[in-house]
Amino acid sequence: MSRVVVTGRVPDAAIDKLRAEHEVDAWQSPESIGREELLRRVAGADAVVSLLTERIDSELLDAAGPQLKVVANVAVGYDNIDVPACTERGIVATNTPDVLTDATADIALGLILMATRRLGEGERLIRSGQPWKWGMFFLLGNSLHGKTLGIVGMGGIGQATARRAKAFGMEIIYQSRSEIDPGIAAELGARRVDLDELLTVSDIVSLHCPYGPATHHLIGAEQLAAMKDSAYLINTARGPIIDEAALASALREGQISGAGLDVFENEPRVHPGLLELENVVLVPHLGSATVETRTAMAMLAADNTLAVLGDERPPSPIN
Ligand code: DGY
Repeated sequence: MSRVVVTGRVPDAAIDKLRAEHEVDAWQSPESIGREELLRRVAGADAVVSLLTERIDSELLDAAGPQLKVVANVAVGYDNIDVPACTERGIVATNTPDVLTDATADIALGLILMATRRLGEGERLIRSGQPWKWGMFFLLGNSLHGKTLGIVGMGGIGQATARRAKAFGMEIIYQSRSEIDPGIAAELGARRVDLDELLTVSDIVSLHCPYGPATHHLIGAEQLAAMKDSAYLINTARGPIIDEAALASALREGQISGAGLDVFENEPRVHPGLLELENVVLVPHLGSATVETRTAMAMLAADNTLAVLGDERPPSPIN
């Protein structure tokens, strides 16, 4: 029997599955586990099931000890894990791709609709008790039909967002490290372009790339200036892909029309300049937040853990 440490609350089904075979020490408080407590608990663990709020670095891996075999992240993004440090120590790192693709694409579409149709503004207006009535020019937004969606990072979530946008009558262009499957490109009518072209041509830019040194502040002042002044920027990937200070200034100056953000540069803090603006929709990292999706994510992390502890290949290894 191995010792599995779970760093935060996950659906019971995943804990039960792990507990059927191993000793499980699962953090149960709704508050995040503090760093000190985390370092103390991982000592002697054979497996760590981690949430994206916990930094899995050399210090933690050393605190765990040489018996640690697997770090199973309950997220598709794994910028919280020092993967080379895991690899150096022979530790398998895993993530949860695919199971959250549709939920995240739904939120991307939701943000596109909220930003372009000014739904947040309308809701705030009604709740504030201000008088209003229907008017020909009241809270006009922009239509999606016939507009161009530029997707940065055309993996599963980018493609799922494109599929939804196509159903709304949008044209799709994308920037990605590689061409996507030609059949899918044809189905979506999607054309691959470079980032410069994507930024200048798109009516909506939606970010779906992983975060890392190569994508830190991928969208900064220069890129925002290259976008149309009627364009919108959507981010459901990771906050630091955007320079938030530059975005706040571009939105304030009318360099772009609006934005929709599910993720933030210094999460959970939001740049104060963004909080003051009407033309940005802000939601608290809800991309995968459905009962079904979170359960599937936790079950996949459990399967990854059990596979490695059983000396089998896990379903979704990173390294
Ligand atoms: C992920 O899995 O990376 C998502 O951001 C979680 O919502």
